[in-house]
Amino acid sequence: MENLPSRDQAWDLLTEYISSETLQRHVLTVEGVMRHFAGLYHEDEEEWGIIGLLHDLDYELYPDEHCIKVQEILKEKGFPEEFIHAVASHGYGICCDVEPVTYAEKVLFTIDELTGLIYAAALMRPSKSVMDLETKSVMKKFKSPAFAANVNRDLIREGAEKLGMPLEDVITETILGMREIAPLIGLEGEITDK
Ligand SMILES: [Fe+2]
Ligand SMILES: [Fe+2]
Repeated sequence: MENLPSRDQAWDLLTEYISSETLQRHVLTVEGVMRHFAGLYHEDEEEWGIIGLLHDLDYELYPDEHCIKVQEILKEKGFPEEFIHAVASHGYGICCDVEPVTYAEKVLFTIDELTGLIYAAALMRPSKSVMDLETKSVMKKFKSPAFAANVNRDLIREGAEKLGMPLEDVITETILGMREIAPLIGLEGEITDK
């Protein structure tokens, strides 16, 4: 993709629109996981990362126009059409009708909600860490609707299907991606050797 800002420029833009620490942590998490998946698919990590970083750009200031307003903002800033499509498509069927087509788009769609579930699962551990969190424990929480009830499991399932990847594998890779940035997102926790 041409005419993309640097990661630093993208971060500056982000902080113009997002001041909530929780939301900043969310987009940093999504950025890290997108970078991890880009590595798996042998795609451009920087590009996938910036898509993740900016995907919720309009969420704080324009919650009622989420995934719509962002298209306008990014267009004005001169972002390429494909980038705008990628960002908007994570709201497919929820707040817009831009369908995820590329791998980057399908991954974003899938892991947006999933990272929330994994985050909550990590904080439940004695270690409060993602470093010793296992796939099977997340699968268990995935199947119990009362846990992190606001996380939409159907969207995650739908995304994994679009990707053609078993849910377990998507969870494993998302955990690995989050481990790579654990200190940045407050999930390093404290692992004690017993
Ligand atoms: Fe969103
Ligand atoms: Fe998001």
